[in-house]
Amino acid sequence: MPDQDQFKNKVAIVTGAAIGIGFEIAKQLAHKGAAVVLNDIDPEATSSAVQAILDAGGRCAAVVGDSSDLAIIDQMVATAGDQFGRLDFAIANAGITTFGNFLSYPVEQFQQLVAVNLQGTFFLAQKAAQQMIKQNEPGRIVLMSSVTGHQYHPDLAAYGMSKAAIRMLAKSLGVELARYGITVNAISPGATATERTLEDAEYQATWAKLSPTGRSATTADIAHTALFLLADESGQITGQTLVVDGGWTAVSPPPE
Ligand SMILES: NC(=O)c1ccc[n+]([C@@H]2O[C@H](COP(=O)([O-])OP(=O)(O)OC[C@H]3O[C@@H](n4cnc5c(N)ncnc54)[C@H](O)[C@@H]3O)[C@@H](O)[C@H]2O)c1
Repeated sequence: MPDQDQFKNKVAIVTGAAIGIGFEIAKQLAHKGAAVVLNDIDPEATSSAVQAILDAGGRCAAVVGDSSDLAIIDQMVATAGDQFGRLDFAIANAGITTFGNFLSYPVEQFQQLVAVNLQGTFFLAQKAAQQMIKQNEPGRIVLMSSVTGHQYHPDLAAYGMSKAAIRMLAKSLGVELARYGITVNAISPGATATERTLEDAEYQATWAKLSPTGRSATTADIAHTALFLLADESGQITGQTLVVDGGWTAVSPPPE
């Protein structure tokens, strides 16, 4: 039987976690007793997110800054150690989505996207793994890909490319870190209702039509998947990407 208290002594880093999917993962982990180092680039949103978790009785510390900055990544790992004594989980959730026609996509946007989506993810995984190996205990790393790293989506060539790379990273690291008892998996969310995506008033109606399940995902759908991959019972799952998209990639009609 699964140990219902298994997250109680665990310590997690979640990046890009002031709102959206990352916040829901942080909240659910804290609710189950894990201590969370919550990273985000937005200082005000970070304070509110941390306060919400503390008010609900959770344990949480903030690291404000760009998740692609190696000094900030070091700070996240150090905060986990200094404030909570260890590090068990790293969830490389931060990612930016910049839409744009391929033929006129500017290099500055490309470089920023690659920095956050790839550099930030790669080096959080590296530095978290170093810490987990030092502790000599099993660890879990979860990366955030996207269905647009599997299937075509209009105006997302750079983003889709970065998200496909994250799936390959999960495979490579799943193999490389297996000998240390560290699993590495990715999640590919489909269209997920968040503060950002809901700025498009048609978002939920559009994706309800396009998704076989008849709805877009919720942040809870994605957080549930993250907690599944983080669980003790998931130790035999590594190098995989779990698609959570209501069946969209099975048919993948693009939005009009
Ligand atoms: N929402 C979706 O439909 C969807 C679908 C597929 C994949 N994803 C992926 O899931 C992850 C989370 O998506 P979301 O929609 O919840 O995120 P979001 O765009 O709502 O952003 C969440 C948080 O990330 C922070 N952030 C942005 N750049 C950052 C940086 N450089 N360093 C630290 N924090 C930063 C923002 O300030 C924000 O608070 C991303 O990797 C995204 O690509 C989302």
